[in-house]
This record gives sequence, structure tokens and C-alpha cells, in this order.
Amino acid sequence: MRYLITGGAGFIGSNYVHHLIHSFSDAEVLVYDKLTYAGRLENFGNLTNNARFRFVKGDICDEKLLSNVVKEFEPEVLINMAAESSVDRSINDPAPFLKTNVEGTFKVLEVCRRFDIPKMVHFSTDEVYGDREGLGPADELTAFSPRSPYSASKAAGDHLVSAYHKTYGLPAVILRPSNNYGPRQHPEKLIPKAILRALNNYSIPVYGDGSQVRNWLFVEDMAEAIDAVINKGEAGEAYNVPGGKPKKNIEVIKDVLKLMGKPELLIKYVEDRPGHDRVYSMRGDKILSLGWRPKTPWIDGLRKTIEWYLNNEWWWRPLVNDKYFKAETPWRIKQ
Ligand SMILES: NC(=O)c1ccc[n+]([C@@H]2O[C@H](COP(=O)([O-])OP(=O)(O)OC[C@H]3O[C@@H](n4cnc5c(N)ncnc54)[C@H](O)[C@@H]3O)[C@@H](O)[C@H]2O)c1
Repeated sequence: MRYLITGGAGFIGSNYVHHLIHSFSDAEVLVYDKLTYAGRLENFGNLTNNARFRFVKGDICDEKLLSNVVKEFEPEVLINMAAESSVDRSINDPAPFLKTNVEGTFKVLEVCRRFDIPKMVHFSTDEVYGDREGLGPADELTAFSPRSPYSASKAAGDHLVSAYHKTYGLPAVILRPSNNYGPRQHPEKLIPKAILRALNNYSIPVYGDGSQVRNWLFVEDMAEAIDAVINKGEAGEAYNVPGGKPKKNIEVIKDVLKLMGKPELLIKYVEDRPGHDRVYSMRGDKILSLGWRPKTPWIDGLRKTIEWYLNNEWWWRPLVNDKYFKAETPWRIKQ
């Protein structure tokens, strides 16, 4: 099977590439990625020497280059994970989010349509449903209610994919995953940030009172969810991908500290970010009916994640500097 993965040099993408090459001896993978601050060739390790792996540096907004790559590689499935993915960054500077997550998704769809790609998988997010506090879990038909520039841009991309299925019969499925965690996640995100700051004995900033609820999904379980929709998902359908039990952010940080043997004194409450959704919550009946289950218990996944960061300083050290450790809120609203 030939897989073309846009945005495959990022966190979820690179973990999925490792999974594909190691689990399926017939998998041929081409990653097409712009290599923004979030994408790195280091994420592939020694896969770059594997004959079944190829990499092309490119922007999904560059329709010509993407078309040439598709023409030459003839993918059986195209997975669009390319995105600007940080809510904090979207608050500070929304423009790249509109460009990649909306216009870029449109270009990918155009290429899929023109080249009759047999299957497309598009990555949306649980954040399109907005804050679910007091509303209960969203199913796939729940109306969208995005509240950050990031989630609004993802909602627009999600709608475009549905429209291309309905209008042109594009064989696309949509995934709406909850918060992923695991190895190779950028140090700007909550769990790696907590691990790296605790490791270096810096305080860990927690937005507001830390009671925001998320539903964490181990990235290796995410990989199996992608396989499940590729093999059994129905074109034109969206699939929520929830993780295990809901957890408050503050509980997540306390679990990290406990596993690392560090004191809770390191926790520092900071001003909440604007429009911070309090609860994400989804029903996963549809993807469960495909036979997929999240297998990794929270503490096991967290332990594996911490061990990975402890054993791979070569990977994270170039991404952190003095400013990273001294800053307490990554976002600054421009006046
Ligand atoms: N990580 C999560 O918890 C989570 C949860 C739900 C949905 N998602 C979605 O899953 C997908 C993957 O998320 P991630 O955490 O791996 O993101 P990430 O930020 O780690 O990786 C994104 C990748 O896309 C690449 N990219 C960005 N703009 C591009 C462009 N214009 N052209 C080509 N490549 C480009 C980056 O270089 C990077 O490699 C995204 O679509 C994201 O919105 C992520």
C-alpha cells in the first residue's frame, strides 16, 4: 500500500510513519511536509535510510508541487495531517492558520479530485465542537462551535472535505481526535512542557485554575485508529476519536510530577488564555463500531512518554533555550 502523508514530519504524522513501516512490510510511505517549526526530519530517525520511506519538502498550498508528487508516487491513500496546530500561536497570529488549515486543505482536495485518489483521510479535531461544559459529549452530528482561530480554521477545513465528498463524490473520511500525547510532541505542548520544565526544576505554568478537562489519547492508539478508518471507514463519514477517562489539566501535571518524583511546589498558576475551552468531550461509538479501542491506560502511556523524553535529550535539546524555560505564557496578544 502506498501512503502519501502531508504534514507527516510532525508529532502524530511521524509516529504514524514509524508505525506503518514497522507494522506493515508492504507499506511505502511518502511524507510531504513544509517543515515548519513543528516538523522535523529528526522525527524519522533512521527511517530516512529505509527504501520504503521517502520525503519531499513542500507546502500543501503549492498545488503544482503537490500534483507532481501525487502523479509520480500514485498514492493509494492520502492522509492530510498538515496543519498549524497550536491554539496559543493561533491567538497571537491567526494568518498562517487560515492559510494552511483552510486554503491548504482546499488545495489538497483539488489535487485528490483531479488525480482520483482512491482514499483520502483528513485530520480535523475535537475542538471543532467547542466547549462542551454542561452540554455532554458531542457525536459526529453535533453542530460545530469553534472558539479559537485554530479551531475555526479546522472547522472550515472539515466542512470543505465534507462538501467535496457530497459535491464530487471524493472518497474522503474525516478524523476528529482528542488531545494526543506521546513521544516526539513539540515542547510547546502541555505534557512535554511539564516534563521538560520539571526535569530542569523550572516552575510549570498552569492556565487559570487548571480545571480544564481533556480526554487524552496515546499517539500509538491514534495510529491504530488511522488504520481502522483506512481499512473499514466509510467514505463521506466523520469519526470522533476519543481517548480514555477525562482528566483535568492540573491532574495531568500532578501525574507527571508524581511519576518523575518532583514536588507539586513546581506548579505555578498563571492567567488563563483568552477563550480557553473548559471541556472537550466526544462519543466514540462510530469508531468503536469499526473494532478500534484505545488500548493504552493513561498512566502507562504517560510513563512511556516521560521515559522517551528522558532518553532522547538529543531530540528536544535544540528546541528549548533559556527563553523557553524562563517564559511562563507562550502567547502574547498584540496590542
Ligand atoms: N496533536 C493533537 O493532540 C491533535 C488533536 C486533534 C487533531 N490534531 C490534528 O492532527 C494533525 C496533526 O497534528 P500534530 O499534533 O501532529 O501537529 P504538528 O504541529 O506536530 O505537525 C504538523 C505538521 O504539518 C506541517 N505543516 C504545517 N503547515 C504545512 C503546510 N502548509 N504544508 C505542508 N506541511 C505543513 C508541519 O511542518 C508539521 O510537520 C493536525 O491536522 C492537527 O490539527 C492534532
